[in-house]
Amino acid sequence: MKISVIHGPNLDMLGKREPGLYGTLSLSDINEHIKHRADMLGVEVDIFQSNYEGEIVNKIHSLYNNFDGFIINAAAYTHTSVAIRDAVLSVSLPFIEVHLSNVHKREVFRHKSYLSDIAVGVISGFGYLSYTLALEAIIHHIKAQEQV
Ligand code: DQA
Repeated sequence: MKISVIHGPNLDMLGKREPGLYGTLSLSDINEHIKHRADMLGVEVDIFQSNYEGEIVNKIHSLYNNFDGFIINAAAYTHTSVAIRDAVLSVSLPFIEVHLSNVHKREVFRHKSYLSDIAVGVISGFGYLSYTLALEAIIHHIKAQEQV
């Protein structure tokens, strides 16, 4: 099974960026946790980060016919990007929306997501664990779909 993990803008600054909100782990620390969990679960993961909306759109397109599902923290683009929503719809793959922080505890503009209603589910508020929980959840979902 192949799962892609997509990190959006400013997540390359994790560890330095608002540590009270996002924690002290860097993006590479978080990626190590994801890879470790993927090894334990016996799946292949490909991890990508970009600060550019169009690059994220291209990355999502490249998943078509190549991956079984994906996990995305679109960061600020979650709340603004119709282009990322349309890219996600164009590949018809199961995905989980992830956030390190609990976006519903924060500013009202972060309560709107262009992805939640088309996601298998949303995991928000568990720091780096949001990603590893999402990995378990997407694998479980894909296996369950294979049974039907
Ligand atoms: C975030 C929440 C977003 O509102 C914010 O713009 C981010 C990170 C999170 O992981 O908590 O950059 O997606």
